[in-house]
Formats: sequence, structure tokens, C-alpha cells
Amino acid sequence: MPTPGKRSAPESVRIENVTKTFRDPATGRENTVVRDVSLDIAPGELVTLLGPSGCGKTTTLRMVAGFETPTSGRVFIGSDDVTQLPPNKRDTAMVFRSYGLFPHMNVRENVAYGLKLRKRPAREIDERVAAMLAMVGLKGYETRPPSRLSGGQQQRVALARSLIVEPGVLLLDEPLSNLDALLREQMRVEIRRLQRSLGITALYVTHDRVEAMSLSDRIVVMRSGEIVQTGSPQEIYRNPTSVFTAGFVGKATFFPGVFRSGAVEIRGRTIRVARFAPELKDGDACAVMCRPESLVLLPPGEGVAEGIVIANIYLGHSVEAVIRPVATDGGDSAPTEAQSADFIVQIDNPHQEHADAPDGALRPRIYPEGARVSVGIDPALAKALVPEAE
Ligand SMILES: Nc1ncnc2c1ncn2[C@@H]1O[C@H](COP(=O)(O)OP(=O)(O)OP(=O)(O)O)[C@@H](O)[C@H]1O
Ligand SMILES: [Mg+2]
Repeated sequence: MPTPGKRSAPESVRIENVTKTFRDPATGRENTVVRDVSLDIAPGELVTLLGPSGCGKTTTLRMVAGFETPTSGRVFIGSDDVTQLPPNKRDTAMVFRSYGLFPHMNVRENVAYGLKLRKRPAREIDERVAAMLAMVGLKGYETRPPSRLSGGQQQRVALARSLIVEPGVLLLDEPLSNLDALLREQMRVEIRRLQRSLGITALYVTHDRVEAMSLSDRIVVMRSGEIVQTGSPQEIYRNPTSVFTAGFVGKATFFPGVFRSGAVEIRGRTIRVARFAPELKDGDACAVMCRPESLVLLPPGEGVAEGIVIANIYLGHSVEAVIRPVATDGGDSAPTEAQSADFIVQIDNPHQEHADAPDGALRPRIYPEGARVSVGIDPALAKALVPEAE
């Protein structure tokens, strides 16, 4: 398949101590929504900004695009300081949540738009548009208006329209949020393929952790305008540095425990967790983070927490057992917030009936709804974190 036109080299992006404060003209009140954010993106890298609604992702992206100017700090594309440049003077292209296609133009005209603006010769435009439409799988749709395309097809046109100008940096703001689940999955693969094959630098904004995990070279987790952690999807998932990140990037159960020299005590049991936050000192209260795959179901009394199976959710390759904690007979400690949340336990290969217990006895792997069970921890996958302040 021909590459549409000759590409310029992908650019690096540097966001340097960027802060954005909005001032409400009515009240005069100031609101800092991005605070001292610094980030380096390598040429050809796909970096995702992930965080809850309102944490400053779009604002950060818009400062890279040039739609907002930082209150302080600088933005570089390649070695150029672009902080004060308008969007059309930057080597960027942006794909929006609402595709923003021109309704009065057909597919071909929409995709050709950026090249026309750049006054490329007609023949070159024809060739590059044809190659680009082939690349995004829209050959044969040239003369359709956007109103007669499905959501996924419109998204492909939007992507093609951004990619055809061969931007040094591609900026995407929740580009898949209007698509249904299956299409989102297909388009995720598609975006990743195009970004890789064109070697394009991309900054991608989403609040969807699955999207971030499956697309990114690196994930930047944001909270209240600040970066709280940066790392590969695996690092962020396996080794989160805070309860917030742990809970935001994947399903997690947190058991309250006490940290004692590299191990944690939970309800009188000592567990040698593989990882722990460096801030923890002997005797500190901690939150032991467990992913669903790091928990196991055991007969009552054998694990670190007791509960009742309230649902077995069949996912094909696994079953997720939802366990509602029950107060234990000791009654010495009332359940805390963390304790009273449900535990999610992942059971792989649900069609296999029993697990081999160390004593050779066969134990059930899935307990029926309503059954009393205990939850055990696989220490190799657990991490002790500093509890979140209320
Ligand atoms: N032009 C503006 N004027 C004033 N406040 C703004 C402006 N744009 C954004 N904000 C505020 O800045 C904060 C961050 O907004 P932003 O759009 O960056 O969040 P986000 O992380 O993209 O959220 P979402 O996931 O909901 O899109 C919000 O509280 C928002 O209300
Ligand atoms: Mg946003």
C-alpha cells in the first residue's frame, strides 16, 4: 500500500512547567486547572493523558495545539518554542470527540481540505487522498456526504483528514467516545496501526482506562490539574504509586493493613507483599492493593477477609466473583470504608471445576451465589500503598 506523500520526520513535544489559570469574567475568581505540568514526548511515541473528568486533560492538549495559551510555562515542538504561536503555525493536527467534519463536503473533499489549504497541486491531492482513503479503509466512499456515514466511518474520515497533512504531532481528544463498544475496540487497533506505520508522534486524551492501556506507549495519569504518575501501561497497572492511580487504572481491592519491615499484617496474618510504597515505615497503616487476579477464594476462615458471594459474572475467559464483606465475629474492629467495599476476585479457566489444594484435596474454584467464603491474597501481585487521606 503506498504511503500518501513524503512524510516529514515525527517531532518531539516538550511541555515545560505549564500552568493554566482561567479567570471568570463575571466574578473575577481565578481557577487553576493545570498546575506545573512537565512532560517530554519522544518522536513517534504515543502518550495518553488519563484522568477523571475535569482534571485538565483537554486544556493541556489545547495548549499543545495552540487553542489555549499557558498562563506560565512553555511548549516546544521539536526544538521550536511554540508557546505563543497560533494553531495554524504549529506542526500539529487535532482529532476531536465530535468529528467536526464539514457537512457540505463529501468524504473526498473533507480529506483533501488540508492539502487544498496548503495549495498543493491538484494531481498530488488526488493521489494522496486516494492513498489515505485506502489506508483508513474508505475506498469507494469518496462521494458520500458525512451524514450518510456511520459513526465509525465518520471517525475514519476525521482521522484521514488529520493524517493527510502529515502533522509532526497528532493530537486526539477522546476520539472514540461516540462509538459503540465493538467499534471502539476496532478503531483503537486502527489508530495504533496507523500511528505506528506512519511513525507519528501522538498525544491522546481519554478518561477510559482500557483505551489508555491498549493504545499507549506511556500513560500520564492526571488528577486535579497535576500529573500524579507516568509510566508504561504495565508499570502503571502493576506498580501504581498511589491509591488513586491504582483504583483509576484498573479494578482493585484495598485491604487495610499494618506495614512491618517489608511485609503487611492483615487481620493477624503476615503477608510478604512483592511491592510497597517507599514512604511506608514500620507500624504505619497501609492499604494493600490487590488486583482481581491477585485474589483467590478460599473456604471460610482461611483468608484475610470473610464475605458472601453476591454475584458470579461470567466473562468467557474468566469469572469475576463479587464478594460482599461480612463483619467478622471478633468484633474488635468496625469495618472501614475500604473494608466495606466489595472484593472482586478473578477466577481464570472457569470451566475447570476444581483447584488442587496443597493437601491434595480438591476445592471448588467457583462458589455459588450466597455462599460464605474467605478471600486470600497472592502476595506476588499485591502492593502496599499509603492510604488515601479522607
Ligand atoms: N475556557 C475555560 N474557562 C474556564 N474554565 C475552563 C475553561 N476550559 C476548561 N475549564 C475548566 O478547567 C477544568 C479542566 O477542564 P478540561 O476540559 O481540561 O478537563 P478534562 O480533563 O478534559 O475533562 P473531561 O474528561 O470531562 O473532558 C474544568 O474544571 C473546566 O471547567
Ligand atoms: Mg476533555
